[in-house]
This record gives sequence, structure tokens and C-alpha cells, in this order.
Amino acid sequence: PAKIWKVDPSDPDPRAIEEAASILKSGGVVAFPTETVYGLGAIYNLVEAVKKVFQAKKRPMDNPLILHVSSFSQVSELAVDIPLEVHELAKRFWPGPLTIVLPKSARVPREVTGGLGKVAIRMPAHNVALKLIEAAGAPIAAPSANLSGRPSPTTAQHVIEDLGDAIDGILDAGETLYGVESTVIDLTSRPPVLLRPGSMPVEEIEKVLGVKIFIPSFARGLGEAEKAVAPGTKYRHYSPRATLILVESRDTINIEKVVAKIRELATYHLGLGKKVGILCTDETRDRYLDLPAEVISLGSRRDFFQIAKRLYPSLRTFDSKNVDIILAEPVEERGLGLTIMNRLRKASSQRILV
Ligand code: TXA
Ligand code: MG
Repeated sequence: PAKIWKVDPSDPDPRAIEEAASILKSGGVVAFPTETVYGLGAIYNLVEAVKKVFQAKKRPMDNPLILHVSSFSQVSELAVDIPLEVHELAKRFWPGPLTIVLPKSARVPREVTGGLGKVAIRMPAHNVALKLIEAAGAPIAAPSANLSGRPSPTTAQHVIEDLGDAIDGILDAGETLYGVESTVIDLTSRPPVLLRPGSMPVEEIEKVLGVKIFIPSFARGLGEAEKAVAPGTKYRHYSPRATLILVESRDTINIEKVVAKIRELATYHLGLGKKVGILCTDETRDRYLDLPAEVISLGSRRDFFQIAKRLYPSLRTFDSKNVDIILAEPVEERGLGLTIMNRLRKASSQRILV
């Protein structure tokens, strides 16, 4: 089983960092916190270690990993033909939850990029992550530290549940700040393309770039991308074991209709003897409390930060209560709402429009 180091997120014990880094340098894999979710790291050019990351997660080999850097100078080791905007984006958003896709340099092993000619890079805004990368002396390749397809881990406990026996260690610095992954944009095409909405709203990135970012339908969680564009999108993602049914509105959200539909579906599935979970918001919570269902509110409908942060832990809570069916409400697709809807759609087995 994995060695666990409990560390202070702002001021981690240097001995824990050194020990974790030496495991990485000898080809091991270690989970560590970032400001988004926990990652499972390997030094990016130790190919056997990178393969262990895929094996531990049961991740398909064609779904590439993000490279985590601790200084901007490492970008020029990993990427070539770096456009000028990258400097502006880095100045404004790094360290932070923005991942930039660039043409890869020959130094990056093809195992890391799933055979693609592009590489995804970000600088995490977390002291433990930054110190680990520094101590390792090289960029760290890290996907989220969950079993492939499961909700990403926002605590070390989630990592242990999914990967405890398959990895060498975990730096435990408590709950992560955003609870949802970084925003991924591809700067190799013009206009830039959103590959995955995340904890940095697209609108903020557009302000710095001065151009609109193209948002393909797969980035909204609708349909699938071609493998060569956004490899991660072709698999079911972020999913609880339960069947998640997402109730959506055709255009602007009519919350009355959504609540009525969820009540109708809950009553139907309860009648079949199913255990039902309802994923709702503070404004609607009281409307479900008369039903014999597990009701979880993600927070106020006006607080997308809170809703995004509580989503993955709530899906895991439903699983721990052995819920069969989860019924979920939608949010508006602006700011972090785009990210929330992407994750809900990808986690869902079925979408119903009212
Ligand atoms: O917040 C995050 O991004 C977390 C923390 C640990 O940094 N990491 C994370 O990694 O979410 P992962 O592997 O779960 O998701 C990475 C996403 C996937 O959708 C993957 O397909 C995409 O980034 N990606 C990685 N490299 C790519 C590349 N070269 N071209 C296109 N997409 C890429
Ligand atoms: Mg992931």
C-alpha cells in the first residue's frame, strides 16, 4: 500500500517532499495535491514510470497526460514554436488552473502524449506541487489521481479509495481548492480551441487573448471529439457507479419545470424499488424533502464556485450510500457553469430536456 505523508498545504515538511521526490526519481509514482484535484505523478521522461501511471489508473494509453512545471523556463524544454500569447497567459494565470496545449519537443516521450505531436502544460498553484516538481528536478506528468472514468479526487482519501494499492505514495494536504480540473486550451490552432472547460472561466482567458476561443460541442459535454483533437473526450468520465440522469432545459432554465420533472422521475424510480439520489441546489432543496430520497444540495444556484467544488465529492457520497439513480439539475452555461454542465453531461447516462 501507498506511503502517506500528511503535510501542511502552505508549508510542507521538506523531509516529506524530499522522500516523495526521491521515489519519483527512482521511477515510482506519487499522488500529490494541486489547487484543482489530486494528481498522480511520474517524472515525465522516465517512460517506465509514466507507463505505471496509466496502469494504476487503468487509463487507455492514447489519452495523454498533462506536464506540470514549476518554472516558466521548463516550457521551452517541453514545447517548440511557442507563440507570444503563451507568455501573456502565463504571466496572468500561472501558477493556476490553465493548461496550454503546444507543439511538443522531441524530449517528450510519445507515451506521455498518447502519440500526439502536441503536449499539454500547466503550472499548478499549490505549494506542495511546486515544491515536489522542484525537488524532482524535472517536470512531472500527472493525470488526475482517480481510476479512469471515476470522479476526480479532491481529497487524499479519494485517492486511497481508487488507487491506494497501486501507487507508491500520497502527499496528503487536505481538500483541494477548486475541486474541478484545469481549463485546457489548444494554442496550436487559430482561433484557440477549448478542449476542456475547467476551473478557469473561458471568459477570463479571452480577455487576455483579445480573441474569442472556439468552443466545440464536445467541450460542452455534447457529442464526442475526434481522437486526434481531444483524446480525453471519447471516454465516459467523472462518473459515479449510479446511473446519473441530467434534467436540462431547452434554452434558458425553467427551474419549475426541472423540479417537476425530477419529482416525477424520482417517484417513478422509487416505485421500482430503486434507491434514488437528488443533486440539487439550496434554492430547490426544500422541494424534494418529502421524498424518501438522498438529497444533496451543491450550494446556491448563484455560486458556481461552490457547485463545482462540491460536485465530485457529492457523486462519491452517493456511491458510498449505494444509490442506484442520481437525478441532477442543470445550471446556466456561462463562466464556471460551462464546466459544471460539461462534467454533469459526461457523468450522465441520460439527458432529459424539459
Ligand atoms: O487540473 C488538472 O488538470 C489535473 C491536475 C492533476 O493538474 N489534471 C488532470 O489531468 O485533470 P487528466 O489527465 O485527468 O486530464 C487531462 C486532459 C485530458 O482530457 C487529456 O485528453 C487532455 O487533458 N490532454 C492532455 N494532453 C493533451 C494533448 N497533448 N493534446 C490534447 N489534449 C490533451
Ligand atoms: Mg482525469
